[in-house]
Amino acid sequence: MVKNILLITLSVVTLASMNTVYAETPQQILDNYRTQAKTEVANFKDFSATNGETFFKNTHGSDWSCATCHTSNPLKQGKHASTSKAIDPLSPNANAKRFTEPAKVEKWFKRNCKDVLKRECTTLEKGDVMAYLMALKP
Ligand code: HEC
Repeated sequence: MVKNILLITLSVVTLASMNTVYAETPQQILDNYRTQAKTEVANFKDFSATNGETFFKNTHGSDWSCATCHTSNPLKQGKHASTSKAIDPLSPNANAKRFTEPAKVEKWFKRNCKDVLKRECTTLEKGDVMAYLMALKP
């Protein structure tokens, strides 16, 4: 009995610490980008939700914008431009799973930015987009 309780306690503690390694809040992920931007951008003050919205809706001279798949209201469900597959809302204010796994966030920023901009997004662009998505009110 005592041994069981010990084991359970141990696994709860282990799970909790794993959680802090792999899962973060959108605010923590944004804070990391902010720290990074300070080293990359001269006179950096803070991210801009307004710039993020403009960036998100711009096609950057190509066919697609971020809004093409994630819609111009990222609180809503999106749809993949080529496969028509449903995409859950991108704003963390409408979808609690968004921006909680840094590796997933990086992977999709990389892929989606290449699709839209033919290059990776800068830290400034990622932070602006996140600031925009986090400012949206359901
Ligand atoms: C061709 C369709 C498409 C376009 C265009 C697109 N995305 Fe995505 N995006 C996806 C898909 C598919 C996923 C992964 C499935 C999911 O997580 O729902 C995704 C996931 C993401 C995620 C992961 C967030 C998380 O924590 O789950 C981010 C960030 C993201 N997109 C940002 C962008 C940005 C910024 C742009 C514009 C530069 C963009 N996307 C353009 C289809 C697209």
